[in-house]
Amino acid sequence: MTIEGTDELLHDALYNPLALFHVSGKTAVITGASGAYGRTIAIALASLGCNLLLASGSSDELAKVAKEASDAGGNVAVIQARPDTIDDASAIIGAAVASFGTPDMLIVASGLNLPAMIDDMVVEDWEAVMDANVRGPWLMAKAFSAAVGDQGRGKKVLFVSSVRGRLGNAVGYTAYCSSKGGVDALTRALAIEWGSRGITVNAIAPTVFRSSLTSWIFADDDRGRAARARNLSRIPLGRLGEPEDLVGVSVYLLSPASDFCTGQVHYIDGGYTAG
Ligand SMILES: NC(=O)c1ccc[n+]([C@@H]2O[C@H](COP(=O)([O-])OP(=O)(O)OC[C@H]3O[C@@H](n4cnc5c(N)ncnc54)[C@H](OP(=O)(O)O)[C@@H]3O)[C@@H](O)[C@H]2O)c1
Repeated sequence: MTIEGTDELLHDALYNPLALFHVSGKTAVITGASGAYGRTIAIALASLGCNLLLASGSSDELAKVAKEASDAGGNVAVIQARPDTIDDASAIIGAAVASFGTPDMLIVASGLNLPAMIDDMVVEDWEAVMDANVRGPWLMAKAFSAAVGDQGRGKKVLFVSSVRGRLGNAVGYTAYCSSKGGVDALTRALAIEWGSRGITVNAIAPTVFRSSLTSWIFADDDRGRAARARNLSRIPLGRLGEPEDLVGVSVYLLSPASDFCTGQVHYIDGGYTAG
């Protein structure tokens, strides 16, 4: 017995495996679109022929990313918004529906880190990290669900966790580690809740890759060199990441190739969590 729609998938797996990765014509919603990962996955999906709704808090950066994605071949619509409230999240999904119809993929690439030792951290900063990293994805998933209704089969949700969701080995990261542990748990709980609807929910969990959050680790100064050495001593593949390193696994998790994979946190970390 196979579930409706899987016969073609099983046939392609044997005789046309690259077809499993086709996402052309599908619609993706990306929050944090001006960030390093948001921009990168936007351009990559545009290159694959996706329609994109790009959401960002920064209008100037949003315009730049929209042009890059459009130049790469995607149909692009934008909204200046971050998923701070359910109204924001609904407006983001609503903008996608208005431009392209019901979205097929949700990618929550917005996130925040405010490192501080617990004794020095104010509660407002803890809340800001938790809001951006846990509440934002939860709100976006809720708004996505409302738009998708009973048309869920084959739809994809992708969150961005971190190796810090599993490992507590970064001083000053109590809020960030807690928030990414929350993303991991949300990924699993939502995958179970939505399994019968055929919606897959997964997360990628990178270690350090180049972005505004980590520019200090790439800096050519004593603090940067020490942080690089600390991280590299744990990375068997011998380098820090680039946002482009995340594209391959992301496309897999956003395409029919991953239709039987849900509730998983996928480490893209050069082997950081292997040891
Ligand atoms: N870089 C790393 O080494 C690393 C490692 C593991 C996990 N991650 C995760 O990867 C995701 C993407 O981060 P990135 O490294 O690409 O960093 P980034 O370039 O700083 O992008 C994050 C984006 O999130 C949005 N944002 C900023 N503050 C926010 C807030 N308070 N509430 C909601 N959104 C906010 C901004 O996008 P807009 O201005 O477009 O709204 C920002 O550009 C994050 O979840 C991060 O935790 C990063």
